[in-house]
Order: sequence, then C-alpha cells, then structure tokens
Amino acid sequence: MIKKGDIDSFDKNWKIRKEAQYTHWVKGEPQNQIQLAFRNHWTLFNELMQNTLFNKGKRVLEVGCGRGSLSCYFSNTAYDCTLLDKSEKVIDIAKTIFKNNKLNAEFITGDANKLPFDDKTFDIVFSIGLLEHFEDIEKPMQEQMRILDAGGLFIAYVVPKYENNVQKDFLWINEILKAYSKNDNTVEKEKIYRSDDNSEKYISVMNNYGLKEINSGGVYPLPMISHSIEFPFSLMPDDSEKAIVNHFNKILKTRKKQTGKHPWLCDEGFGQAFIVWGFKK
Ligand SMILES: C[S@@+](CC[C@H](N)C(=O)[O-])C[C@H]1O[C@@H](n2cnc3c(N)ncnc32)[C@H](O)[C@@H]1O
Repeated sequence: MIKKGDIDSFDKNWKIRKEAQYTHWVKGEPQNQIQLAFRNHWTLFNELMQNTLFNKGKRVLEVGCGRGSLSCYFSNTAYDCTLLDKSEKVIDIAKTIFKNNKLNAEFITGDANKLPFDDKTFDIVFSIGLLEHFEDIEKPMQEQMRILDAGGLFIAYVVPKYENNVQKDFLWINEILKAYSKNDNTVEKEKIYRSDDNSEKYISVMNNYGLKEINSGGVYPLPMISHSIEFPFSLMPDDSEKAIVNHFNKILKTRKKQTGKHPWLCDEGFGQAFIVWGFKK
C-alpha cells in the first residue's frame, strides 16, 4: 500500500531510470515531445506573469522540483531560482543538470508540507506534477501560499488520474510501441498514488487562503506517443520524436488561430493536466 504523498516511491524511480538524468529544458527548438510540453508550460506561465496584479519580482521557487526542467527556463531568463525536493537523489541530479548547462539556482532538500522559508520570501511559487500525489492538499498548498509575497503568483500544474482525456484514443498506438520495444521491459516502476480530484478542490483551498484572481484551465491538449507514457516518460528514436514534434507544432498553431488563446489551454478533462493559479493579496 502506497502512503499518500510518499517520497520513497519517487526516490526509487529516480534511481532506476536512466532517462531521469536529462532535462526537458532546451534552448533552441524542442526535439522531442517532452521538451515540447515543457516549452509550452513555459510560454503559458509567461502569459500568466503578464497579469497586472503580478508584482514582477524575480524570486521563484519550484516545490517538488525533480530535475527542475521548468526551473531551467526561469534560470535561463535571469530569475532568482530556488528548487526544493524531498528526494536527495533527485536534488543531486538537478544540481548536475544545472551545472552542466551553466544555469544558476539554489537547491534544497525539504518537505512540501513544511517549507523551510519565512513568510513572503518568493514572488512566484509553483509546482509541476506534485500536488496530485497528496491525499491532503491543504498543507502543501497553504505552505506555498504562506511564503508568497504580496502580488506574488501561485501556480499548480496538476496531472490528475483522468481516464477520458486526450490520451485515451491513442492508447492502442502506445500498446503496439510497447510490444515492439525492448527498452522498457527491464525495470518495474514503483506505483505512485495519484488523485482524481479536479480543479474545484484546489480552488477552494486557494479561496480559503484569500488569493485573488483565482483561475484554472485544462492544459496539454495532445497525447504522449511513447512505449512508456508513464513517469518518467521514455523517448522514441530521434527521427520519430522530431516528426511528432513537427506535427504537434502544426496542431498547436491551428489551435491558436481557432481559439485566440494560448494553444496549450483546453477544456479540463480533455487535457493531460490542468493548472490553477492566483495572486497573493
Ligand atoms: C512527478 S515529479 C515532478 C518533478 C518535476 N516538478 C518535473 O516537472 O518534472 C514529483 C516530485 O515531487 C517530489 N515530492 C514528492 N513528495 C514530496 C514532498 N512531500 N516534498 C517535496 N517533494 C516531494 C518527488 O520527489 C518528485 O521529484
């Protein structure tokens, strides 16, 4: 039985998978689906940072940073980055990734339930793929909002356990790829608890804490074509990844034209994930 929000399972996964060692950040054009996803997370986050309520400060914290792929984007754009994770192993990996890419940041091993920072220390606090692993989201969310300064931006990117999202029509392709792949059958991954709560639950915590301009949206309106779509994702041969990225870029361009919005946004329940965001009063 997996304890909710339990770190051990993450830690084991970080240790056994070699693709856990590389970042999904890239300076130039994204070369694979995961790099494309993080590029779109970044451009979407940037849009949220244009809000006039945002205090425009540069102090940013990623909670449950893993390899810190999105933090690489912040660091590369001269933000003052701090990365926190409970897994010592992944903090070491993140440090190496940042060093190899000449990116600056502070790294802290710590618990999302008890963040080792004073009130009002940061201008942006975000997490990617963290909160859905907690049975009780109140504490880790309150902690993040506590350490935000006035006008600071809180963003949570949540990957819920939804059966009927965009991925469902592509599962058969992934099953075929899996059957033909030799890569993926060697290690049993640890199973990790994931909640199926939608954005309402997260928004109610934000309301209770008095954030303003609270908002939410589905994100990631594309499937993951892979012989292992589960964390940590496995990549296909370079040429195949590039071909999919080109195709997906065309889809995103069309979406943007059709919706007039950031093309990464979609209906909640359709996308692979959703985000909730708001500003500290
Ligand atoms: C799905 S990974 C996401 C990693 C990263 N944010 C990314 O974008 O790839 C979730 C991360 O949360 C971390 N984590 C889980 N429970 C935690 C806790 N209580 N405190 C801090 N980090 C935690 C795990 O070690 C893991 O690195």
